[in-house]
Amino acid sequence: MSDNHVTGPPVLADSSGHGDALENLMHENRRFSPSDEFISGAVAGPGLHAEAEKDRPGFWARQARELLSWDRDFTQALDWTDPPFAKWFVDGQINAAYNALDRHVENGLGDRVAIYFEGEPGDTRTYTYARLTEEVKKAANAFESLGVTKGDRVAVYLPMIPEAVITMLACARIGAVHSVVFGGFSADALRNRIEDAQAKLVITSDGTYRRGKPSALKPAVDEALKAEGHTVGHVLVVRRNNEPVAWTEGRDLWWEDTVDAASAEHIPVGHDSEQPLFILYTSGTTGKPKGILHTTGGYLTQTAYTHQNVFDLKPDTDVYWCTADIGWVTGHSYVTYGPLVNGASILIYEGTPDSPHQGRWWELVEKYKVSILYTAPTAIRTFMKWGREIPAKYDLSSIRVLGSVGEPINPEAWMWYREVIGSNAGKHGEQKDNPAPIVDTWWQTETGAIMIAPLPGVTATKPGSAQTPLPGIVADVVDENGQSVSNGHGGYLVIREPWPSMLRGIWGDPERFKETYWSRFQDMYFAGDGAKKDEDGDIWLLGRVDDVMNVSGHRLSTTEIESALVSHPSVAEAAVVGAADETTGQAVVAFVILRGTAAEDHDIVRTLREHVGKEIGPIAKPKTILVVPELPKTRSGKIMRRLLQDLAEGREAGDSSTLADAGIMGTITESLKKGV
Ligand code: WTA
Repeated sequence: MSDNHVTGPPVLADSSGHGDALENLMHENRRFSPSDEFISGAVAGPGLHAEAEKDRPGFWARQARELLSWDRDFTQALDWTDPPFAKWFVDGQINAAYNALDRHVENGLGDRVAIYFEGEPGDTRTYTYARLTEEVKKAANAFESLGVTKGDRVAVYLPMIPEAVITMLACARIGAVHSVVFGGFSADALRNRIEDAQAKLVITSDGTYRRGKPSALKPAVDEALKAEGHTVGHVLVVRRNNEPVAWTEGRDLWWEDTVDAASAEHIPVGHDSEQPLFILYTSGTTGKPKGILHTTGGYLTQTAYTHQNVFDLKPDTDVYWCTADIGWVTGHSYVTYGPLVNGASILIYEGTPDSPHQGRWWELVEKYKVSILYTAPTAIRTFMKWGREIPAKYDLSSIRVLGSVGEPINPEAWMWYREVIGSNAGKHGEQKDNPAPIVDTWWQTETGAIMIAPLPGVTATKPGSAQTPLPGIVADVVDENGQSVSNGHGGYLVIREPWPSMLRGIWGDPERFKETYWSRFQDMYFAGDGAKKDEDGDIWLLGRVDDVMNVSGHRLSTTEIESALVSHPSVAEAAVVGAADETTGQAVVAFVILRGTAAEDHDIVRTLREHVGKEIGPIAKPKTILVVPELPKTRSGKIMRRLLQDLAEGREAGDSSTLADAGIMGTITESLKKGV
């Protein structure tokens, strides 16, 4: 199956997980204009769109020069002579770490806080730009002393602690390519990613804290490196929770012995604008995750530009908190690169929102006076479930901009976010006259940075809509044939023109890059999302139209989970669907056909869930596993997941006329009733 295979009814299936969302969305007519006060102080004014339309490459060139410091200026904004392989800011030379660190210190901002860190147990650290620069220089020296040079890959398997950011920037400084693997992925998933990228160095920690308890990380690295023949020379281990760890002499090194002892002198050199900055693996529609490749100049330009304009950043006064883990792209672009290149003060929190109590986030907002909060709808819906009285106990008056990312935000969650978080003017129930604007930001690992979002001082926002392509971005909604749909219609979301932070490819697989994103529609990037234009031409995202699920804002591939299930000896066949879930957006539901006597094993469901956890990671464990005697297939043998999705969501199965065996849905339903 090709990566860009589109399943299900075109687009208008509601995969956002909220009943008749499409219908509701189209009746959503609330509008919230920015206040006069916000407009007058806003970073981004209405002129940006017009400027970008006049001369797009010129617009991006201006952003690149104004937001970044180049070691050598570029000669051309965009080289698009070999699409879909773009080159941005041709011949330019730049160092990402210098842009995120040294230059702020040189500009007299050394004492500004770069990172406020709060660990789950309540320990805190503060890094000024001067201190963070020093730490990154030490890490850069240490990595070099371990033989890491420009172009080498470094795998990062760390919790949300400052060393994660330090590691990313130290790699960038020396031109090494980081590949961050989310700590929730299993040893097997880590091994695949280490092997695919041929990483030379792995950076991890003994562990982290989760819900008040130490939780281990290093054992997964040990497990991943158990087999012979890998490329890893050293494992650098940050001491975080002081739990005992196994040690491989000669390979394993403590961060404190290596980095802390290294010299704090390190001169950054400019790297080519197209020097690979990082690889980040993400789920596609096949079983094998793709290593999405990002390069330097264009990526930094667009992350900095969007971070400044979409969040209305005032770096000297704002405290910015993006709650994403660095294991995801949001943690790359909006925890590390965008904010630090812009000289912002950021908050990093290690733990879960309910530890030690359900008000922890709001306590942090109050304590650090967070002014910009960027999070995911799944978190907002969880807080809704916990109750509005929890955030109401805290003073959230510092908040002035709210962001959402990762999945469609339903209007109810959007309104709750505005009324409960954005309107809070104190812990005694005071309300703001002008609630904080909400920016719903659409983008992907592949796009590198925000693509569609309101501008908070310009756009009258609509609950549930990402609305407008940012100045410099040309997005559209097209029909099956690639024709632009008129207002009021739905179709597929595409990007028509190259953008600076676009992926430059899939690591080691240029053909898959073309095939996955550029073959569905001619000369357009196909994102895999369904979307709709409303009567004003604003864009509403409707969820994935391919075999990718979105669970709590995390991308998971149905095929990958199916492969994991069938790799278990008890499973003959498996089909996985994302079923609507009130909190997580979608939940993983698996239908399995068991082999032989496996059905008699009362523990089989638990065993299979654990197996998926081991193969991919706990985030991929199916919420529900249903044992069935058969699966619905078309005459060509393709599983009709749409019908299974109907069952998983408790509906009558839809049109099954294209099934090879028309009676099969009846058989499955009967068997589920009986509980095979
Ligand atoms: C979904 C996360 C609706 C979408 C930055 C996309 C969204 C996928 C939104 C990318 C949004 C992200 N509204 N859907 N504001 N933001 N998505 O690569 O389906 O983890 O294709 O990047 O998340 O997920 P990824």
